Amino acid sequence: MRIGVLTAGGDCPGLNAAIRGVVARVVAAGEEVVGIQKGWRGLMEGLARPLGRDQVRGILYEGGTILGTSRMDPYVHGDGYASVRATVEAEGIDLLVVIGGDGSLRTAARLEKEGLPVVGIPKTIDNDIPGTEVTFGFHTAVQVVTDAIDRLTTTAESHNRVMVVEVMGRTAGWIAACAGLAGGAEAILVPEVDYDLDDLADRLRARHSSGHDYSIVVVAEGTPDPQGEEETSGVDAYGFARLGGVGNVIAHELERRTGYECRVTTLGYLQRGGTPTAYDRILATRLGIAAGELALEGRTGVMVAVRGDRIEPVPLDVVSAPPRALDLERYQEAAWFFA
Ligand code: F6P
Repeated sequence: MRIGVLTAGGDCPGLNAAIRGVVARVVAAGEEVVGIQKGWRGLMEGLARPLGRDQVRGILYEGGTILGTSRMDPYVHGDGYASVRATVEAEGIDLLVVIGGDGSLRTAARLEKEGLPVVGIPKTIDNDIPGTEVTFGFHTAVQVVTDAIDRLTTTAESHNRVMVVEVMGRTAGWIAACAGLAGGAEAILVPEVDYDLDDLADRLRARHSSGHDYSIVVVAEGTPDPQGEEETSGVDAYGFARLGGVGNVIAHELERRTGYECRVTTLGYLQRGGTPTAYDRILATRLGIAAGELALEGRTGVMVAVRGDRIEPVPLDVVSAPPRALDLERYQEAAWFFA
């Protein structure tokens, strides 16, 4: 049996741990793994190399992906299965393990229906993939943002400023809410919860005039601006809006209302790069092993998902549901500490 593995879409801490998990489990069963480079592009262009235990040594703690990735998609930039069939046949791939976000996993589900057996592994820092309770990469992103908030707080306090921190997450407020909670933010704006800037300005004024004259405001990139529009710059390969810029709008509006100095920090790709936390290494390894096991059993058309403490297969079609929105209980827990 020869199992292909690829990483597609944006990179995310833990991808290498997941690849390593797949390889270790499959190789232990005496079967082979072939790594497809540069995501779907590699499957379309025949970019492949064998992956044995030696090729995945020393990568557990590395960020990014040893296989490379891309935003290319066989259904957007090719003819679906027809555009990957040559590589699948030339490499003798019986089954493909796809490590991807919801866009890549939807592509995987379509290929599966066209005849390419697939096992999916969900990944994203956004934590918004339907069908699983958590995705690897999220924990690392939350830690990075929390560390940034801690640092920004000392400058905010020294200069009596309002620090607006714009974070990733696409249309979900998971990173903003969890890092805002961990960092003790005075306000958190997320796409799932309406906000009132006049009310927020009043609350900041009350806080600042009571002796705590600095604040941290975390803004998720997908939060609509005060006109109810997303701040974007074009679309990505899957047609998703490229989000970013709402932090500047919020800072400007808060400064206008309060007269306080409001500064913006957009954390951007810092949230996605670098070494994964221990939690993400463990989760990604477990998901890789579980996907390897399912592949060996020939159980395809499934995605490995987190259910409580366990990893379970769920139908791959689950990714056609809308992105998993922030749990509002989490938001409320953070909101008890707002200004
Ligand atoms: O989905 C992960 C993510 O980092 C989002 O939080 C962000 O909106 C998007 O990817 C950015 O993608 P790109 O790499 O195309 O700029």
